[in-house]
Amino acid sequence: MTYRFDLQAITRPNIWALKPYRCARDDFSSGILLDANENSLGSSVNPAFAAVAEEQSLNRYPDPLHGTVKERLVKLRQVPDPDHIFLGVGSDEVIDILVRIFCIPGRDKILITPPTYGMYSVTAQVNDVQVVKVPLELTGPRQFQLNTAAILAATRADPTIKLVFACSPGNPTGTWLDTRDIEQLLDSEAYRGIVVVDEAYIDFVEQTKGGSVASWVARYPNLVVMQTMSKSFGLAGIRLGMAFADRAIIALMNKTKAPYNVSTLAATVALAALDDAGLRKMSQDAAILRDQRRMLTEALPRISGISEIIGGNDANFVLCRVVAKDGSGRPDSDRAQRVYERMAQECGLVVRFRGTEVGCEGCLRITVGNAQENQELLKQLELNLNLL
Ligand SMILES: Cc1ncc(COP(=O)(O)O)c(C=O)c1O
Repeated sequence: MTYRFDLQAITRPNIWALKPYRCARDDFSSGILLDANENSLGSSVNPAFAAVAEEQSLNRYPDPLHGTVKERLVKLRQVPDPDHIFLGVGSDEVIDILVRIFCIPGRDKILITPPTYGMYSVTAQVNDVQVVKVPLELTGPRQFQLNTAAILAATRADPTIKLVFACSPGNPTGTWLDTRDIEQLLDSEAYRGIVVVDEAYIDFVEQTKGGSVASWVARYPNLVVMQTMSKSFGLAGIRLGMAFADRAIIALMNKTKAPYNVSTLAATVALAALDDAGLRKMSQDAAILRDQRRMLTEALPRISGISEIIGGNDANFVLCRVVAKDGSGRPDSDRAQRVYERMAQECGLVVRFRGTEVGCEGCLRITVGNAQENQELLKQLELNLNLL
């Protein structure tokens, strides 16, 4: 770091001063537990589920911090210890908590780099926080990389920008960000806020290309790295996301969150995903999806009406461009939208229309499915493009 980062200076004073809620279990957690107004008779569920409820003690509040899950994440993501990890109800909760900790409503701002994940803006709006937009590079060899000069010009001009969100690999771009650019944002005295790197799709990046910056939290007190169990681990249903950051930031997040945000069931499933067998399965599945992604990036541009795949193809989706039927090669968002709607309504095949995003004119974002789904996708896309 080239400057002295001051966490207190960028934290909302009410959060800095906050005395966290003390849980019933902070002091004693075993014995006859009559401290938390739980139900000592057990859980009222049907007999088919009763054994699970009892085994998991679902009549009891969950562990507020889930240290065992964090221990496994320490090993996986190479961070110093569990105090560098926050667990949330999906990474969407992480985004919300960060905005609430650092941005004074009606005054402070976040900076996003479109085209990007929509929840950063939505969360800002919910919290009455303004959004500054500095688009990614849209053309050339650095397509969908950060425009660091423009970001730093914006942050230098406006110290009320508290959070810069950088999505790597990006959604919907699929592009893994050059870590030298992230380093530049972290090091520059032109920005004194937090750099948030959203790595929801990190396990889909080819290892030969690059990887996570989570381990950097040991040396950057101004970095937050977000990840999730929703993508590579195939556990979107349990709603478990995480942040890696310096201890001081994690402490702020833990005292701001609801006391029992992550459920017992979510934590139990996460433990099953993070043991050796679970991790092996995740790696194998990520490799299969990368192969299928490669297949799609080759097959899609051969379909008449699709001009190209754009973006880095580093996530579990591809972004392809639909062009006009007249052969001009002009990106055609209207046609892309009609294809999207017809496929969903007539064929039961749902992709995402992204044509209104900057730099994504005419684009459909297609999640890499299993081999059979991908073949069906190719077939239906070709059929529908012929019709429309
Ligand atoms: C870039 C990005 N970040 C975060 C999320 C949200 O993840 P979670 O399911 O952990 O809330 C998504 C979901 O699609 C995403 O695309």
